[in-house]
Amino acid sequence: MEGKEGRLRRNGREPRLSRRQKLVLAAVAAAVIIVAILGLGLGLGLKNRYGGGGDDSETEQPPAPQPTAIWQPAVNTSWQIILNSKLDIDPNNPAVEPDVEVYDIDMFMHRNTAVVSSLHKLGKKVICYFSAGSYEPNRPDSSRFPKQDIGAVLDGWPDEKWLNISSPAIREIMVGRLEMASKMGCDAVDPDNVDGFQNKNGLGLRPQDSISFMTFLADEAHKRKMAIGLKNAGDIVETLLPRMQFAVNEECAEFKACTIFSPFVEAGKPVFHIEYPEGAPFDTNPEQKEEYCNAPGAQGFSTILKAMNLNFGAEYCDGRQVRTKVLQ
Ligand SMILES: *[C@@H]1O[C@H](CO)[C@@H](O)[C@H](O)[C@H]1NC(C)=O
Ligand SMILES: *[C@@H]1O[C@H](CO)[C@@H](O)[C@H](O)[C@H]1NC(C)=O
Repeated sequence: MEGKEGRLRRNGREPRLSRRQKLVLAAVAAAVIIVAILGLGLGLGLKNRYGGGGDDSETEQPPAPQPTAIWQPAVNTSWQIILNSKLDIDPNNPAVEPDVEVYDIDMFMHRNTAVVSSLHKLGKKVICYFSAGSYEPNRPDSSRFPKQDIGAVLDGWPDEKWLNISSPAIREIMVGRLEMASKMGCDAVDPDNVDGFQNKNGLGLRPQDSISFMTFLADEAHKRKMAIGLKNAGDIVETLLPRMQFAVNEECAEFKACTIFSPFVEAGKPVFHIEYPEGAPFDTNPEQKEEYCNAPGAQGFSTILKAMNLNFGAEYCDGRQVRTKVLQ
């Protein structure tokens, strides 16, 4: 077998280094590589801790201006919610339809875009949605979730699994997500899937776990001058109402349970209420629309009729249908 030296010699060049010098050089090179890898790992780790997570940093943005007070929306505040796509707003000439007061958008989808600041320029408030109580595989921080904190699959959402929301590791990850929302300039957060105790979760979650988790998230959000809403979780409304600035509810009319959330309205806080009637939003079943828009207990709710995938379309109870421009 011909070695390296042999080939060098055959090419007519003398090896310049002795075998021992080469060994020393190789050792130094290996040390440099190891240090570089460790440094990179540490860098990525720190980035992940703050919810960054590497990939699409196409537009590195300066930190958004921070709110000086916690936003308290009023009852009957108008809104649109889009979670399955990115809003299409030209930051240099911002415009958005419908002209509602609040947009609830997916935080991760908008983290490297100027959508939040564009909405602010238009005088809108922004609620940033993320899942706080479920594991999702393709988020930038997904690799940080410890296996032992992941429970059963969410009914109807095969990619998502319930989380042990009492675990300090999970809470730390969620603080990272709040920090990210804060850096983006979100006025509020909409942490989803905090009602594991009302579902088959595989972790033995109890109402007390959700109360404790939402109390923790509320304190962390408020420290960052962000408002927070309670998503669904009807059983714990009474306990959490004083700490929440609003509720986000899905299908209370369908389940004839809107009175459970009406204490928010009585306390002067809005209930952002979504129903999913057949054919919504552009061919809504009229009987369902009537039933959902006039549900007992839903007086004063900010009701919106949507397709289950929470796309660009919406219908309101006054019959107005809207199409928000999104990137396809
Ligand atoms: C609720 O807001 C809508 C506009 O979004 C308005 O037309 C309606 O009058 C308001 N209702 C109350 C009771 O303020
Ligand atoms: C969830 O986390 C808490 C706190 O670390 C722990 O006491 C509990 O045993 C965990 N639950 C499960 C089902 O692993």
